[in-house]
Amino acid sequence: TQLNKESLYQLSEVANEYYQNQLWNTEEGANIGISYFRERSIRDDIIKQFQLGYSPKDWAAFTDFAFNKGYKKEILEQSGLAIFKESSDQGFDRFRERVIFPIHSFSGRVLGFGGRVLQNNVKTAKYINSPESEIYHKSQILYGLFQAKSFIIKEDNCFLVEGYMDVISLYQNGIKNVVASSGTSLTVEQIRLIKRLTNNITVLYDGDQAGIKASFRSIDMILNQEMNVKVLRFPEGEDPDSFAGKHTADEIKIFFKENSKDFIQFKTDVLLKETKGDPIKKASLIRDIVGSIALIKNLIQKEIYIKECSRILDISEQVLFSELAQLTQQNV
Ligand code: UTP
Ligand code: MN
Ligand code: MN
Ligand code: MN
Ligand code: MN
Repeated sequence: TQLNKESLYQLSEVANEYYQNQLWNTEEGANIGISYFRERSIRDDIIKQFQLGYSPKDWAAFTDFAFNKGYKKEILEQSGLAIFKESSDQGFDRFRERVIFPIHSFSGRVLGFGGRVLQNNVKTAKYINSPESEIYHKSQILYGLFQAKSFIIKEDNCFLVEGYMDVISLYQNGIKNVVASSGTSLTVEQIRLIKRLTNNITVLYDGDQAGIKASFRSIDMILNQEMNVKVLRFPEGEDPDSFAGKHTADEIKIFFKENSKDFIQFKTDVLLKETKGDPIKKASLIRDIVGSIALIKNLIQKEIYIKECSRILDISEQVLFSELAQLTQQNV
């Protein structure tokens, strides 16, 4: 209900203030939370702009705080901020001893949170996130969109990354038109959120096998929404955040300019490595790329990409067009 949603918004705002207060105004927050952000080279002004916080070690620090403010078990449970075992009335905090990343709506309301452990290689998940609720639908949210939206319009392009820290690092280095799908595979709703602001997306996934695979899927989804897609590939083992840590802001800008490739070039680069001159593999590569081109609805754009494809792969346009015709027929 609307009333219930309003309570959830309100509670999220209270939690957001609470986690920031823990970070800035407690000894534990300074020793653990601030130190963590320092280690990762995040500036104070960026911590404040993204409203990053800290959740203390105590089992029920926030839960008790919220109880004292008059919030009831039911709403605390719905928000996911507190967890109640069986029918117990004593809840405990979902986020404990983690740095906190609040997740905002397009218009800046807090909808949920992500929390990161302070040490890698611990047994629990590296990041935990708010569960789905009446206000938090992860498939409809892009992390960073609230901070990035005006820059996406200004640059007429949106960089799409995997994670929280990728958004924050790039933003800190002056690349502010950046959002993350936060580990979930990109959805149509998320693409439509970007489409309100620009028709151009540059995908910047991690430089590993999973990142490349995810890029392929995202390319087709973006083309399907009649948008333009480029891909920026990172060196093996790097993600935008780790890359940013090793380069100056100017170097990053130049790397981005020089290495953004259109999706055809990207797919051929990746796939040609695997074909090693094998004609059967090359044929399947061509079908794969033509399959992506088939998703483009604009005929002129389609033709431009077919020409590019013909040039790069050294296959006649005629063959590519007939391949395209076959695929398009299948799609109808
Ligand atoms: P990554 O594993 O690439 O982490 O997951 P990362 O963003 O580089 O994290 P750092 O640099 O180690 O801090 C990408 C995104 O997937 C989601 C998070 O949104 C993360 O930013 N994720 C990852 C989870 O939700 N849970 C996890 O356990 C791991
Ligand atoms: Mn809803
Ligand atoms: Mn990754
Ligand atoms: Mn990563
Ligand atoms: Mn990372």
